[in-house]
Amino acid sequence: MSDFFKHNPAVFAVNKHYQIMMPCEKACLFFVRVGDKYYYDESNGIMCSRNKIHKVEVPANELDNAKQYTVCIRPIIWRKAYFSKTKTVVEKTFRFYPIPENNIRAYHISDAHNNINEPIKAAEAFGEIDFLILNGDVIEDSSNPSKFMNIFEICSKLTKGEKPSIFSRGNHDLRGNYAEKFASYTPAHNGNTYYSFRIGNIWGILLDCGEDKNDNHPEYGFTVACHPFRKRQTEFLKSIIENKETEYDAKDVRHKIVISHNAFSHRYHSPFDIEQDIFADWTKLLRENVKPEIMICGHAHELNIYYPDNTEWNTNGSVCPVVIGSTIKKSKPVYFAGCGYIFSDDKIEIIFTDSNGETLGKESLDITDKSN
Ligand SMILES: [Fe+2]
Repeated sequence: MSDFFKHNPAVFAVNKHYQIMMPCEKACLFFVRVGDKYYYDESNGIMCSRNKIHKVEVPANELDNAKQYTVCIRPIIWRKAYFSKTKTVVEKTFRFYPIPENNIRAYHISDAHNNINEPIKAAEAFGEIDFLILNGDVIEDSSNPSKFMNIFEICSKLTKGEKPSIFSRGNHDLRGNYAEKFASYTPAHNGNTYYSFRIGNIWGILLDCGEDKNDNHPEYGFTVACHPFRKRQTEFLKSIIENKETEYDAKDVRHKIVISHNAFSHRYHSPFDIEQDIFADWTKLLRENVKPEIMICGHAHELNIYYPDNTEWNTNGSVCPVVIGSTIKKSKPVYFAGCGYIFSDDKIEIIFTDSNGETLGKESLDITDKSN
């Protein structure tokens, strides 16, 4: 069994589902049991065995109610056109803790750039979590597919397969030979790296800025087409607003958050001052319709909170308070700091912690004004 359960599974919130993902080094068939229902890693009816990372999608309410799931693995001996040979199924059951109603604790890691241990230490300095946020550039680039395992190692250690995670893509993730396959190694909604999600009473939206410079920047050598990708997200945002009753205006939603690797409402200097029209549209659509409580970002390698009245940093007006919550120093040993969040009825506490086990700062965001 240990061959297959080196890592705990990761349970990612995507749309109104959880995507349960687990790396398996050896060829196997993968399925998950929740209650008396089975969910299979299959493609158009064919069980997948060639994927190094398996993915199964289960309805979020079913797993929240069952509070446990069983990962089932059938090792492949010889897959062939007729009479494939397989071994007996090995299985392992994991507890699952749905998000509590109040005092919900989350930890944000981004820009780990291939480092695993220091981000974990920073998260441990915050303490117990109810969910984990991985917000881009967890890996240095997508040249080497083995690095995708870093994502699952961090999830495995911090959630033990028992808590949900939110995963968003960063600009470094778009670089390298395997970048075009990124969405198959990570959670995605119909192949898209942007989507809305629900965990308990938190509604959230992931927006993906893609690269941080224009598509024609020489660094990319013609390999990037992020402009149409960003335009599609404007339409996606409009469709979310059209369906607000089942999205952010649903009866049981108490918190609304935006997650984006790159703080698109920020003023950047050249060559990073890209897509001003599109980002202004996103900012306006969110501010005037969704009215989120907080936007959670990384990318800039800093620990800061930008309030809506900060005109020096906000372009085109801001969405809501923006927290940039991770920094890394590639010293020896590597230094990492991330950001903890505690969501309660009247406030969101923001707590920066680092890989030395220190708490670096705390701030409390008043969210009692629901008109904002
Ligand atoms: Fe970045």
